Amino acid sequence: MAKVAWRLGRCWCSSPPQVIGFPVVQLHMSRTAMGIGQKDFENAMNQVKLLKKDPGNEVKLKLYALYKQATEGPCNLPKPGVFDLINKAKWDAWNALGSLPKETARQNYVDLVSSLSPPSESSSQVEPGAYRKPPGYETLVVTSEDGITKIMLNRPTKKNAISSQMYQEIMLALKAASKDDSAITVLTGNGDYYSSGNDLSNFTDIPSGGVEEKAKNSALFLRDFVGCFIDFPKPLIAVVNGPAVGISVTLLGLFDAVYASDRATFHTPFSHLGQSPEGCSSYTFPKIMGSAKATEMLIFGKKLTAGEACAQGLVTEVFPDSTLQKEVWTRLKTYAKLPPNAMRVSKEIIRNTEKEKLHAVNAEECRVIQGRWLSDECMNAVMNFLSKKAKL
Ligand code: COA
Repeated sequence: MAKVAWRLGRCWCSSPPQVIGFPVVQLHMSRTAMGIGQKDFENAMNQVKLLKKDPGNEVKLKLYALYKQATEGPCNLPKPGVFDLINKAKWDAWNALGSLPKETARQNYVDLVSSLSPPSESSSQVEPGAYRKPPGYETLVVTSEDGITKIMLNRPTKKNAISSQMYQEIMLALKAASKDDSAITVLTGNGDYYSSGNDLSNFTDIPSGGVEEKAKNSALFLRDFVGCFIDFPKPLIAVVNGPAVGISVTLLGLFDAVYASDRATFHTPFSHLGQSPEGCSSYTFPKIMGSAKATEMLIFGKKLTAGEACAQGLVTEVFPDSTLQKEVWTRLKTYAKLPPNAMRVSKEIIRNTEKEKLHAVNAEECRVIQGRWLSDECMNAVMNFLSKKAKL
């Protein structure tokens, strides 16, 4: 019996090595399982193999579920344990299809594959003529002109969720920006979101050492990532073009100025996700807004409007969404003409009094969150998110 094995994993796309990556989804197909629409179904499977861009874990789970339903019918496997994250996600996705007929599943599979011709993720806000820096970032657009290095998160179809690859690329871009000849560095998002925070599918790639090893590596990685923001030597500005969630909010306490669209919101639903604050926010937020307001955000997950975030000192200034880009960039271009060494030294004086403290806070937050990632509360919340998506 001919079998086709299709593997989605690290080797599937040309991404750089990742600390946290894609789940490995393996499909085995018996050709006799196919009947009506066999040719279309086969074509669709071939098309998937030719996709140049990874469609993301949620799509891969949907494909997996539809494939299983199309070839084997309703889910017939025992439910995996909660710690078996990958198989649990796959099981949830397949099980969510209930008694969907095989023919419908086959048709849905074909439709889904044909919708995967990659949507343009490029640069609605990339200014023409701006110099795009090598090396080719896949999740960022990095440009440098007028004394400003602009790092733009560029996964708009995923609300700029920070995948493992994006974490790596942000670190690379910050390291490059710290050494280039620009005076200031700006982080912003492409599309309607600034960022929806940590890509929750980062949780699904479990190494052979199991979830403990995964949590340990991820905590070390997070510590390095946040460390880059603590140590960044030039003025670092956030242009918050839309809603911000999770780590994209907590890091704002480490920026030197934060300009926001009046459409932006600021949300840190850590307790809802069974997690705990990172990005030094357990220290910077109480300092910026007082402990009572920080508690509402970091413990109770209260979402702030841009106006509220500005009133509490997290945001420097709010602009109408329609004029944000024009007003902010005009202002930043003026700031970027100031003597760069004076700005660098002034930042150093401000930051140095706290650097040691910030690194200690970062280390402690990473220690605590490592434990949280192993908790049932966290695992259940992540599985809920992933399985809700798989049911769509
Ligand atoms: N992790 C993984 N995927 C994410 C994501 C995240 N943090 N944020 C958005 N996405 C994906 C969605 O899964 C969806 O993918 P799909 O098109 O393959 O289905 C796509 O981005 C668009 O998001 P969607 O949920 O359809 O948009 P929305 O406008 O209805 O909701 C959010 C946007 C951000 C409110 C919602 O996606 C969300 O709650 N995300 C999780 C945010 C979060 O908890 N972050 C971690 C904080 S610690």
